[in-house]
Amino acid sequence: MTKLLETHDLHVYYGQKEALKGINLSFDEGGITALIGPSGSSKSTYLRTLNRMNDLIPDVTITGTIKFRGQDIYVPQTDLVTLRKEIGMVFQQPNPFPFSIYDNVIFGLKLAGEKDHERLDQVVETSLKQAAVWDEVKDHLHESALSLSGGQQQRVCIARVLAVSPQIILLDEPTSALDPISSSQIEATLLKLRTDYTIITVTHNLQQASRIADRTAFFMNGEVIEVDDTKKIFMNPAHKQTEDYISGRFG
Ligand SMILES: Nc1ncnc2c1ncn2[C@@H]1O[C@H](COP(=O)(O)OP(=O)(O)O)[C@@H](O)[C@H]1O
Ligand SMILES: [Mg+2]
Repeated sequence: MTKLLETHDLHVYYGQKEALKGINLSFDEGGITALIGPSGSSKSTYLRTLNRMNDLIPDVTITGTIKFRGQDIYVPQTDLVTLRKEIGMVFQQPNPFPFSIYDNVIFGLKLAGEKDHERLDQVVETSLKQAAVWDEVKDHLHESALSLSGGQQQRVCIARVLAVSPQIILLDEPTSALDPISSSQIEATLLKLRTDYTIITVTHNLQQASRIADRTAFFMNGEVIEVDDTKKIFMNPAHKQTEDYISGRFG
């Protein structure tokens, strides 16, 4: 059976430095996968390969294959705008554009040429509801997104990704710049989204991984040491390195 997303023998080099050393990891539709591991273990590097964000970094070499719905995404004819619509990304630091909340959410649709105001209104409402921030912003849609709290900004950024109907949502430590209450709101949002979207999130918060992830992959030194059901990883890991990391012996 074809996986939704699969990486085979994926290597990434920054100049001479090998950051990813042959990653084999695949994702079925739906659910949340957490990528955990010490700082510098190449979690972000891996995440960025999945929608070709590393392409923007100078002097990067990528070998191996990544297939999305069976299609190699690294072939030259890949349309990167379409790819990044299908595989959206949310970053550590909330990064709304300096526009209104409304204009942030419709940014991708506008770019794609959508002009129907009713449809745009509808997408704004649906996406903000899915991101669990609608009630807080519905009376201020035309105010600057920058006037919101960090946690609200992050949920607006999630809505901006949802507005273009992605299949996969990549998140790189989406709560590490947020206070605990905002973080738990983001976690609740992701748990709501996990049935309709395939979510891959980097987190250095092990409790967060254990709370929200169906599956967890442990990265160390550019390799995946172990990937399994989250419960298994936390209760009964197969590798000593995983156990040491989980129990806080390094990281
Ligand atoms: N743009 C870059 N240029 C050069 N080296 C990088 C770049 N990004 C990351 N690296 C290096 O690759 C390794 C993995 O980094 P990263 O993917 O950010 O790890 P993590 O997200 O697990 O902390 C680190 O040694 C880091 O210094
Ligand atoms: Mg990182």
